[in-house]
Amino acid sequence: MKITLSVLKADIGGLVGHCTMHPEIMDLADDELTKKKNDKTLLDYQVMACGDDLELIMTHTKGVDDQHIHKLAWDIFLKGADKAKEIGLYGAGQDLLADAFAGNIKGMGPGVAEMSFEERPAETILIFMADKTSPGAWNLPLFRIFGDPMTNPGLVIDPKMHDGFYFDVLDMKANKHIHFRMPEEMYDALIFIGSTEDFGIRAIYRKVDDEIAAVGSTQRLAMMAGRYVGKDDPVMVCRSQNGFPSVGEITEPFTLPHLVTGWMRGSHHGPLMPVPFESAQCVRFDGPPRVICAGFQLKNGNLVGPVDLFDDPAFDRARAEANVIADYLRRHGPFEPHRLSLGQMEYTTLPIVMEKVKDRFKSLD
Ligand code: F6R
Ligand code: MG
Ligand code: MG
Repeated sequence: MKITLSVLKADIGGLVGHCTMHPEIMDLADDELTKKKNDKTLLDYQVMACGDDLELIMTHTKGVDDQHIHKLAWDIFLKGADKAKEIGLYGAGQDLLADAFAGNIKGMGPGVAEMSFEERPAETILIFMADKTSPGAWNLPLFRIFGDPMTNPGLVIDPKMHDGFYFDVLDMKANKHIHFRMPEEMYDALIFIGSTEDFGIRAIYRKVDDEIAAVGSTQRLAMMAGRYVGKDDPVMVCRSQNGFPSVGEITEPFTLPHLVTGWMRGSHHGPLMPVPFESAQCVRFDGPPRVICAGFQLKNGNLVGPVDLFDDPAFDRARAEANVIADYLRRHGPFEPHRLSLGQMEYTTLPIVMEKVKDRFKSLD
């Protein structure tokens, strides 16, 4: 029996400002999903939050892109947004771009990462959830997990992984995708995935048997709406152990708090800080961008967990380094590369200011 793991997320209102999620919204989501588990639509579920994002983790047998599953998540987001308005939360319903559900939640605002697979006797799953950043934030860690032997020794010494993986890469602006085989096409792949604002990694498959290994959400809210409306804070799922990278090989890249876009007003670079669940609230300069990692064992679709995988002193140094990087970047104030380039910023006054001063620009020739 194939199990589908669906992770759907949206920012439907923050407490305080864009910092974190209100417990009543999480309770509401929990109540709704309990009903769906009781009526057997779902095998199991878990409600989580990262920063101001509500994260719905669901298992079922309906396959990816199933309209019933997407609709039930959409309805929870709508109900949650109404509750957020009632409570007075900030930015209630900010990620819900569409008025009516049209069969698939993709393109409507929420982020989606889903995969279907035949459950192994012991199925280890890691779910990453990030706030104040964008889907390209996964490119570097995914490359290091599934393509880099300096990070993942399994690529070298585990016979089950030795053939490598292939990456399904999305051109997020053109909405076209392409497969790159690792390691033989690594240099070709890197010219694209190194460009994290333009290219995202949709999925990764094991070459030897085409088994799905990882999926990421690659929805870009700003591109859907044509203007800044919210943040496309992404999620990612990796299968782990016994022919896939181990828990330690998957979490290892997060010891580098690499620079990502999306901090303060979606217009600044900042370090991605790995934190325990309880530290997933974005305060300092509305960030810094952060990531949590929930580990589960799956048994007949039951989610055994979560284990808070970044709740480990071994990531203290990454957190300390992220703070040093944050201080260093903040000293740049409104200057690049802390601030994003003019075309990348989600907030800008450029058209207004330009209109005001354009006649004062004098040609030098
Ligand atoms: C939200 C975010 C924040 C907001 C900022 C301004 O995800 O990144 O930095 O952009 O707090 O928010 P508004 O415009 O809602 O006052
Ligand atoms: Mg928000
Ligand atoms: Mg958010």
